[in-house]
This record gives sequence, C-alpha cells and structure tokens, in this order.
Amino acid sequence: MTKQTDTQMSDSTWNNFKSAAKDAYADGKGETVQSQNGQTIIFTLPEQIGCLADALVMFKNRNVNLTHIESRISKTERGSFEFYVNVEENETAPKDISLLLEDLKKFAKNVTYDHEEALWFPSKISDLDRLSNRVLSNASELDTDHPGYSDPNYRARRKELAALAMEYKHGEPLPKIKYTQEEINTWDTVLSAVLKLHPTHACKEFLKIFPSCGYKLGTIPQFDEMSNFLKVRTGFTLRPVAGLLSARDFLCGLAFRVFFATPYVRHSKTPMWTPEPDVVREFIGHVPLLADPVFAQFVQELGLLSLGAPEEWIKRISRIYWFTLEFGMIHQNGNLKAYGASLLASFGELQHCISDKPIHHSFEPEKTSQTSYPIEEYQPQYFVFESFAKATKKVKQWATAIPKPQSIRYNAFTEGIETLEDKERIMNLIREMKCDMDRVEDAIQKVH
Ligand SMILES: [Fe+2]
Repeated sequence: MTKQTDTQMSDSTWNNFKSAAKDAYADGKGETVQSQNGQTIIFTLPEQIGCLADALVMFKNRNVNLTHIESRISKTERGSFEFYVNVEENETAPKDISLLLEDLKKFAKNVTYDHEEALWFPSKISDLDRLSNRVLSNASELDTDHPGYSDPNYRARRKELAALAMEYKHGEPLPKIKYTQEEINTWDTVLSAVLKLHPTHACKEFLKIFPSCGYKLGTIPQFDEMSNFLKVRTGFTLRPVAGLLSARDFLCGLAFRVFFATPYVRHSKTPMWTPEPDVVREFIGHVPLLADPVFAQFVQELGLLSLGAPEEWIKRISRIYWFTLEFGMIHQNGNLKAYGASLLASFGELQHCISDKPIHHSFEPEKTSQTSYPIEEYQPQYFVFESFAKATKKVKQWATAIPKPQSIRYNAFTEGIETLEDKERIMNLIREMKCDMDRVEDAIQKVH
C-alpha cells in the first residue's frame, strides 16, 4: 500500500456513534441530550447510596475531568440509574480514559464510550476480517484524474477484483486471479525497466532475496505463491484488499505480520506511473524485503505500536511508514541505496532518490514522524537508515512516549495479541524467554 492518508475515524462514524449513544440514552423516544464538547461515557449503576460517589472517585483517580453529567432512572435495568457523562479531551485522555473504562466495567453495567472504535484493536488474526473491507474508496469510482477513469473495461475489472478481495476471509484459500494479457504486458514493462536499476540502486538485502521471488516476464505471480514465499521466511502473509484502508486499519495488519495488498494492476496507458498501490508495486517493491527477518521485525513493530494508539500517534506512525516501507533509503558501504517499495518499483524515482536533487536526512523517528510529504510527485526529501536493526531500536525508543494503558506483545503460537496486564501473563512470558535463552546459551556453547 502506498498512498497513505492521515485518515481519522470518519465524521460519519463519529456522528453515528454519538447519535446512537444518545439514542440509547434517550431510549429511542425522541429525548435529546444537550450537545456538549468533549467525549461521552454512558453507564448504569444500581440505586444505592454512595454508588455514584464511588464511580466519580474512579474519574478522579484516572485524571479524567468531567464537564457535564446527567442522570435518570434506567428504563431497562430495574432499580438502577443511567448516567451520561461528558469528559474533557486532552493529549493524555486516551490512555486515562482507557484505564477509566477498565475500572468502570468492573463496577458499572452498560459502559459505553463514543470513541470505542478508536480504542478497539484486533486481538486475534481473524479479527482482521472486521476491518479488511473498510476501504476508503469504491473500486469503480475512480478519481477524474485517474488514468482509468474514462475506461469502462478497466473500471469493470477493478470492480471484479475488488469483489474477490472483499469476499476473502481469514483462513480461506487465497483467490486465484487470471490476469489478462494487457495486465501481464504492464507487469513486464515495469519489471524489465526496474531490473536494469536494481543492481546499482537497491540495498543488499533486497538484492539477496529478489532472485528467490521467482519473478519473470510473461506472468504475474498468484497471491498464494507470494504469501507462501513470505510465510516460510518471516511469517508474513499477504491478504488481498479492495483498495486503500485507513492508516490505522492498514497498520493493524502489520502487527500480525499480515500485509494488505491490492490485487489489481495499474492502467495500461501509464505503465510507469500509478496514483495508488497496485499488485505490481506490492510484489516487486514490498514482497522481497518482507522476506528479510530483520526488516520484517521493523515492519511488525510499526504495526504493534499502532494498536490502541491515539489518532495523533497513528498519523505519526503512518508518516514513518511512508518514509520507510514506501520511500526508505539506507547507507551501505558509503553509498545511498533504496529499500522502499515505491522506489524499487519505480524506474523514475529510483534514479531520482539517489541523485543530488532531493535532500537526504538521517532517520530520526521524531523528525520523520512530523514531516509531511507530497503523494503525487517525486519526494523532495528522504530519511536514511544506518541499518534496519538500529532503526528498529530507535523507533521502539521513540514509541515509549505513546500513551497506552498496557504493554502488548504478539504471540506467534496463537497468532494473537496479548496484553501484559497481570502478573501471571508476565510470568508466562518470562518463562518462555528463559526457555529461549537456555537454547541461545546452548547454541553459543556449541558454536565455540
Ligand atoms: Fe505500498
């Protein structure tokens, strides 16, 4: 995926939830709640002396400021009161509110929060089914400046491939796609062009893996071939997606080592340029480095950082994604080399990026995450890694500032995200790590 957007939860989602929450409070009978700024929490408490006071202490303990509170007798829970509370928005609110919600859920019933969707994240790999179809644009509704806008055949083909991606569910065989001769010609044009530049412009990790990908002229590989290729090397898999996802949804997949990839091919009249991701760029640009273990770790870290992160931090992580996975460069043996997919699959920008026209900065997560970029022209600046391992370390250090209620880890055995929220889980992790360390110690002794 290339064209990242700083998409937040859409206004319609926000408004739908807010009105749904208010409707729930109003019991669908036309009662309205006074409009307030900030965020809304609704919960139900039993009619007991001191119950509300105890709840309010939880707000105070979590540093969440109330700006408005209303109560009424519950129409659904006998002997209970419903509370509608507005709370102040601030920089640390997501972490504090998340902790508060955990507290409230142990104490109150029907706890509802109007930013719940932002806090929710998939905890198991099959949960990706919930977000994989939330594409930002309809496959057949191309922008007026899209090369395929006035081509009805192209639009129909896009619709057909989008449907295949939309139907896919985790665990099913990946769809087989019979690419047309026109599509294969486009693949051939791009592949034969970039192959001329890779030896001098691509990083050594890419060059080492690329021959194993099996790319050749005259055929576009199938999703299952390339997904299996990755699976046995780094555990990454490809999942077809109908179009662009929000940054948050796309990054979620990376946490599970799932890469959302588009199955369609750019329009044949502009084989060397596309305004969006396509299968040519996914396969030629992304797949080789996702097969490198150190780089794969970096990519998964970006995904893990995004889970449950506040929207402002999603923007920052997605900018790092842009300047690394898409347009990343690295110093190797005193030379600038490319490792970003949008460079390695672009004959023009691959030459531009190592020229003296753009500015080359050292990769510093804080600076990179604050830098905006153009999406339809060559990048005027790039951020350069010293190594993948050092970059991963830098990003992890930078990410300690992300306000999150709990530490999380990916469990490769269960393909799920674990929150390290209690002593037992942390102890289990320590036991696993000790087992691994014993193996490392044994291996070192055998080496010497
Ligand atoms: Fe991409």
